Amino acid sequence: MKRIESKSDYNEFYNKSMEQTDAYWAEVAESFTWIKKWDSVLSGGFENLDMKWFDGGKLNITENCIDRHLKDNADKVAIIWESNDPFEASKTYTYKELHENVCRFANVLKDMNVKKGDRVCFYMSMVPELLFGVLASARIGAIHSVVFGGFSANALAGRINDCKAQILITNDEAPRGNKSIPLKAIADEALESCSQVNTVLMLERTGNSNLVEGRDHVLNDLLSKADINCEAEEMDSESPLFILYTSGSTGQPKGLVHTTGGYMCWASETFKNVFQANDNDVFWCTADIGWITGHSYLSYGPLLNGATQVMFEGIPTWPDAGRFWNIVDKYKVSHFYTAPTAIRALQACDPKFVHDADLSSLKVLGSVGEPINEEAWEWYHKEIGKEKCPIVDTWWQTETGGIMISNLAGVTDAVPCHATKPLPGVEPVLVDGDNNILAETVSEGNLCINRPWPGMARTIYGDHDRYRQTYFSTFKGRYFTGDGAKRNADGNFRITGRVDDIINVSGHRLGTAEVEDAIDEHDKIVEAAVVGYPHDIKGQGIMAYVISTDPKMSDEEVMKELNAIITKHIGPIAKLDRLIVTPELPKTRSGKIMRRILRKIAANEFDTLGDTSTLLNPEVVELLIEKIKS
Ligand code: WTA
Repeated sequence: MKRIESKSDYNEFYNKSMEQTDAYWAEVAESFTWIKKWDSVLSGGFENLDMKWFDGGKLNITENCIDRHLKDNADKVAIIWESNDPFEASKTYTYKELHENVCRFANVLKDMNVKKGDRVCFYMSMVPELLFGVLASARIGAIHSVVFGGFSANALAGRINDCKAQILITNDEAPRGNKSIPLKAIADEALESCSQVNTVLMLERTGNSNLVEGRDHVLNDLLSKADINCEAEEMDSESPLFILYTSGSTGQPKGLVHTTGGYMCWASETFKNVFQANDNDVFWCTADIGWITGHSYLSYGPLLNGATQVMFEGIPTWPDAGRFWNIVDKYKVSHFYTAPTAIRALQACDPKFVHDADLSSLKVLGSVGEPINEEAWEWYHKEIGKEKCPIVDTWWQTETGGIMISNLAGVTDAVPCHATKPLPGVEPVLVDGDNNILAETVSEGNLCINRPWPGMARTIYGDHDRYRQTYFSTFKGRYFTGDGAKRNADGNFRITGRVDDIINVSGHRLGTAEVEDAIDEHDKIVEAAVVGYPHDIKGQGIMAYVISTDPKMSDEEVMKELNAIITKHIGPIAKLDRLIVTPELPKTRSGKIMRRILRKIAANEFDTLGDTSTLLNPEVVELLIEKIKS
């Protein structure tokens, strides 16, 4: 399928995708390698939640990511890997070498008795082997489930057990800045409560680790001995490709299931149209593979398009705040895709870090994960893009598989802080609380998607009913995103943020219930309510209101103890930024915590609290306001 190159292309493609959906997606799918062509393009729908794309089709996504490029581009660089340590040599892999490495890994998995449909859990840092492993798993038809290396043993165990994985792949330690995260030790702790896991493959990265006899194997040794060819398994278009866990409004994370054919088309098309990368460009998505952004715009989208990309193991601020910019300079990165939280953090650093690097290779900048504020947008545009690089503000979710609403770099208009227009195939609507479509162009409401698209998650692993409940029950007949949005006179969407109990901390989704569940583990806390509030760098910070049975403990002491528990249960990303100990929480007469009021107080919006007289205990509101002011 041709790339969208102009505004009129965009209109034409978009209209075709809405009016002749099957014909449009058939044309997209035809540009890939299929072992057998599909019988129908889209079947099923929101009614019965049985959407199928390209049903009857057979393929392997890795043949499309790798083998397809070998004929003409075997020696083109696929991956440039940059270590956490700026003095460690970088590694590059051509498409041919990527093929060899993925095949080696696939053969190791086969030797370990991993079969089609088995779940393979990865708990690794950003090493090339993580990418090889994910693709290897897809190559043999296993389902990968990557758990971000910042999650705790408890969180890891929950995810392993939910998908009943029998194999875990990790590294000894993950170098991050001047620290090393002991991934293997954390994994060992997790595995104490995962009795079904019988195999652990451990990559030696730093050399500090212990092996459990009979269960653990050194991955490096196995890879070096493995054969460099491995035939790709024939998969159904609707075979699950991966599970990725994300927070929901209850304590238990949801394992979103993405399938093969539709996801492939979505990841590939959105990458191509949004970023507009050309043959000699160098793409860099800074996300970890543990998040959906790292799946769709590092593991799959760029490779499906035969692009050259950077993979970075470290963090933006080590050894100093110039690290991102030095990497852009070093590899002549042309397309740079990151999160607003990173932009804001780097904006707050000495400008010399930016000025010392040559950023002239940059052509396109991208933003993802949370609303980008005006100040950060301007700085990104001026200081990083030197006012010559379009910024694509890409709105999407773990559930959507790929970008849904975004401008197309240099093709459609960028509007600061607006994700702008839907991509072909996406029909966004704004609805009010009663599910009425807001037909006026200028409106504000709940953002829903009105029809299936190829990249959408098909279910929640092992819990289709929760899938229905979470996404399709609030507004009947539509997929509810959980986000609020505004539409301006030009039809451009601006995402305003979550309207449910999910908070977005540094671009990472956390359920307030998840944090509350962790807090409940403290024996002196009888009740807790967690809310998000505006935070200069993180976008949202986490604040807890807690009722404690120990009047002698200061708020600081309580917060310290709770953060230790939260770190253990979820991981350091969920730590509280603020805490107030209170004798009571504001409640309705039916006993429900009034979170709306708690959110307002946390945001210092004392004048817009609304009517508090219907509360069971209105006096507590004054008390909380006083406490927060002091
Ligand atoms: C938010 C990340 C505003 C939104 C790809 C969404 C955004 C949640 C944007 C999904 C954006 C993502 N502008 N908000 N450009 N991109 N979000 O699942 O609230 O980690 O629902 O997927 O991030 O987060 P997730």
